[in-house]
Amino acid sequence: MIIAIDGPAAAGKGTLAERLAAHYGLAYLDTGLLYRAVGRAMAEAGLDPDDAAAAARVAAALDPARLADPHLRGREAGELASRVAVHPAVRAALLDLQRGFARRPEGAVLDGRDIGTAICPDADVKIFVTAAPEVRARRRTDELAAKGRDVPYERILAEILERDARDSGRASAPLRRAEDAVLLDTSALDREAALAAAIAIVEAAR
Ligand code: C5P
Repeated sequence: MIIAIDGPAAAGKGTLAERLAAHYGLAYLDTGLLYRAVGRAMAEAGLDPDDAAAAARVAAALDPARLADPHLRGREAGELASRVAVHPAVRAALLDLQRGFARRPEGAVLDGRDIGTAICPDADVKIFVTAAPEVRARRRTDELAAKGRDVPYERILAEILERDARDSGRASAPLRRAEDAVLLDTSALDREAALAAAIAIVEAAR
């Protein structure tokens, strides 16, 4: 069983996908980490993330060991990721790795922006997870505050809106709900309720 989870920034896809994978005993791939790793590798090498040819070279040579870098989860890596993710050659370079992951016999859970539309269009279950931008920004602000990092809510909201606009507006595999994806709006749901709703969607689909 392949479960594809897509949605905008800070919608809680990662937590949900990880817990769904644990629930069904499936492997999980956070595909955002791939783009984050490419963005960070470029920054470290002093390369411009808007340079498509350089980004494609870095993506083609990506060392999977890089995915364990804790800095990848940060806001700066998220911004760099969305800049390198607009280049079609970067997306092409990361395609086999993602499809190969999804091909394991028991199936897998993948989350990202284009899993249901481009990476695994034949996924057994597709869920498009979203929440109002203000709700996503509030959750992210609170998460950071809990780690002792006080970032103004307005700044987080602006970053989320900017990333969503870039991800939805790009020509190559933009962020959008696949026609056969079930919409899961978590604006009024806590994590437990969101997981229960996702499990109900999977059960209804299989
Ligand atoms: O999901 P996450 O916030 O970690 O993704 C970081 C960025 O990577 C996204 O804003 C998006 O630009 C890009 N991305 C993508 N396609 C995916 C996963 C992530 O373009 N499947």
